[in-house]
Amino acid sequence: MSIKLKTVDLKKRMQQALQGGGEKAIEKQVAMGKMTARERIVSLLDPNSFHEYDLFVEHAAKDFDMDKKFLPGDGVITGTGTISGFPVCIYAQDFTVAGGSLGLMHARKITKIMDHALKLKVPIIGINDSGGARIQEGVNSLAGYGEIFYRNTQASGVIPQISVILGPCAGGAVYSPALTDFVFVVDKISKMFITGPEVIKSVLGEEISMEDLGGAKVHSEISGNAHFFSESENECFQQIKKLFTYIPWNNSKKADPFPKKSPNLKLYDIEKIIPTDPRQPYDVRNIIKAVSDDSEFFEIQENFAANIVIGFGRINGQTVGFVANQPLVLAGVLDVDSSDKAARFIRFCDSFNIPLVTFVDLPGYLPGIDQEHSGVIRHGAKVLYSYSEATVPKTTVILRKAYGGGYIAMCSRHLRADFVFAWPTAEIAVMGPEGAANIIFRHAIANSDNPEETRKRKISEYRKKFANPYVAAAHGYIDAVIEPSETRKFVIHALEISSQKSERGPKKKHGIPPF
Ligand code: HXC
Repeated sequence: MSIKLKTVDLKKRMQQALQGGGEKAIEKQVAMGKMTARERIVSLLDPNSFHEYDLFVEHAAKDFDMDKKFLPGDGVITGTGTISGFPVCIYAQDFTVAGGSLGLMHARKITKIMDHALKLKVPIIGINDSGGARIQEGVNSLAGYGEIFYRNTQASGVIPQISVILGPCAGGAVYSPALTDFVFVVDKISKMFITGPEVIKSVLGEEISMEDLGGAKVHSEISGNAHFFSESENECFQQIKKLFTYIPWNNSKKADPFPKKSPNLKLYDIEKIIPTDPRQPYDVRNIIKAVSDDSEFFEIQENFAANIVIGFGRINGQTVGFVANQPLVLAGVLDVDSSDKAARFIRFCDSFNIPLVTFVDLPGYLPGIDQEHSGVIRHGAKVLYSYSEATVPKTTVILRKAYGGGYIAMCSRHLRADFVFAWPTAEIAVMGPEGAANIIFRHAIANSDNPEETRKRKISEYRKKFANPYVAAAHGYIDAVIEPSETRKFVIHALEISSQKSERGPKKKHGIPPF
């Protein structure tokens, strides 16, 4: 056969493979408001940058008449490309081919591209849209999932791993996204659960729709399994592109610097954000915007455990990870969910050389039977562990309340913050003046002629003595009491001076975080 004829033959084969599950299945996909797997890859990556591999991989299953079925690409598309010039490995499950179900060769295509990503030290993006383990392939499907989970774990902390849920992702299949760094979901399209509504109904007699059980809102607001929520697939891809502007390719690099920009001081006047009354709440995101370049803040898990705020911004062109208590929600307390949320983000930043900037304003850990029984001790310890373990530059600014365990946990000097600054409004104490006075002056208050008046006096005494930054400053636990307007200047200097920081903990195989 001449080269020309062989090329014609290649094109014919490619055409056949590129048709996916065929017209009908594609129509069904479109009717559900979903893009096809190839459209998704093309929309996400830079134009003409996608290079597909393993197009001709075929399944090898024989049982249940599988030997008579042709499944183009075995239901998954894999390859490499770029996002704003940033190299990535990518796979997208093709629901039009056997429901994107995962058989042996489907899994091998995924694990091959994951191995590439780990070897080439570039991020891996997985677009999930699948009915789960291919039922006809039995244990080979389970083996495939196991191989993926193993690689997710090996790649963790080495390359960024992104999961995009654009369809069903059910059963054990959910554990690959759960092992990755960022999970993106789209309203009405994403569905994630271990056991679906049918199983729940038959086992527990409870009725629930797929959407209410594991839709995008549920995972963004209640379970915390998702990090980014969007209304459409296109919006989701824009979010992914934005994320890539803040993170490095791998753990041996830093995020690319951007041109330096000042914050928008007209919109965010840092002197005016915190109310004079220390009991009044305010939105801590305005403090972040008042110090970050162009007042830009890329928030993560915005609607989950909103009592803590996490996300990326830039200071003098460099990516930083912000962690801040949010006085607007539950007074900014640490609880089970906010501890999980913060701890995981701190570890991501630490793995990928992103300095941490922490803003503190919290009355402590949330009291309550529910919290105690849900393991607030174990979950809260994750914050202590991750801050203590982190060796990236750590700068802490205490804005207002820093009480009790909350003071220690929020990247205090004792957990090895490099720099701790406090505003003159800071109150660093074992607990709030009201609670403290009620305990230590209980007898004096009870035995006085006018208990209410004595209580007020004692609270004021305690506040004067301890509810300020100067006792901590006198002990050297904070480095400087600064004016709010000086915050950006101090943080910039702290980041510059610690830019070459290199620290190693004691030699060990690995620590044992309070998972
Ligand atoms: C083989 C599958 C499949 C699967 C779907 N298909 N899921 N084939 N194995 N797991 C096929 C269907 O037979 C159908 O083929 C085509 O994909 C499209 O599926 P539909 O059912 O027509 O689509 P839809 O109505 O949109 O429903 C989607 C769905 C449903 C909700 C995902 O397909 C479904 O419930 N699938 C089974 C889900 C499941 O129980 N998976 C196993 C989970 S256990 P035709 O030829 O008719 O077009 C698991 C264990 C993993 O994953 C453990 C890892 C540790």
